[in-house]
Amino acid sequence: MNQHLAALTDNVAVTALKVSGGRFINNNYLVLNRRTGQALLVDPAWERETVDSALKAANAQLAGILLTHAHADHIDLADTLANEHGCPVWISRREAASSGFSIAALRTFDEQPWEAAGMLVRPIITPGHTPGSACYWIGNHLFTGDTLFIEGCGLCPDSDAASRMYSSIQRLKAMLPGKVQIYPGHSYVQPPGLTFERLFRYNVYLSFDNVEAFIKFRLRPGQAKSRWMAFS
Ligand SMILES: [Fe+2]
Repeated sequence: MNQHLAALTDNVAVTALKVSGGRFINNNYLVLNRRTGQALLVDPAWERETVDSALKAANAQLAGILLTHAHADHIDLADTLANEHGCPVWISRREAASSGFSIAALRTFDEQPWEAAGMLVRPIITPGHTPGSACYWIGNHLFTGDTLFIEGCGLCPDSDAASRMYSSIQRLKAMLPGKVQIYPGHSYVQPPGLTFERLFRYNVYLSFDNVEAFIKFRLRPGQAKSRWMAFS
């Protein structure tokens, strides 16, 4: 790895911020560049004081916001924070188009990496939960939104979406090193930050090698629709 690339990937520190709003409990993440003191936020929602406290504790300057998808529990504070900090907000081009989400600070991408807060941001488009969901790979950390949880994967509205989710998970399996740490949008039992190789102990969705079986299981009847996790 050359010196410039190492500087963009070797100084990344992650702080998980657990926030709640209504029936939702979400993980927001502060991604700090320890070299420069600049930071990115992933999916900020609801608890403004939690975000402010985390920025202050890290002595960090907010330089950008990354959105994994456009569901309300992942975008709630994006516009407010972007306006106050004068920073951009990123979402995949496909997600912006399919959701209609639009704010002044919004920037879109396909799959090209870019540099933000002095860190290399590598997006992976992972459709399934939504048409343009994205994961963000920064240093040794992968922020997965509602695509991949430690113990499961996000809801898919129909069999076409579940088929896309299967392909997205197969793609992650093919490209991610086992040591990459996984930071999902919601936590259930295990904490965020487990390595990808450890997820294979907990996550049945990683074990499928047949799309029909995956779809049938993801859309199986009897899943609790009234629980907050079912809407995430
Ligand atoms: Fe979601």
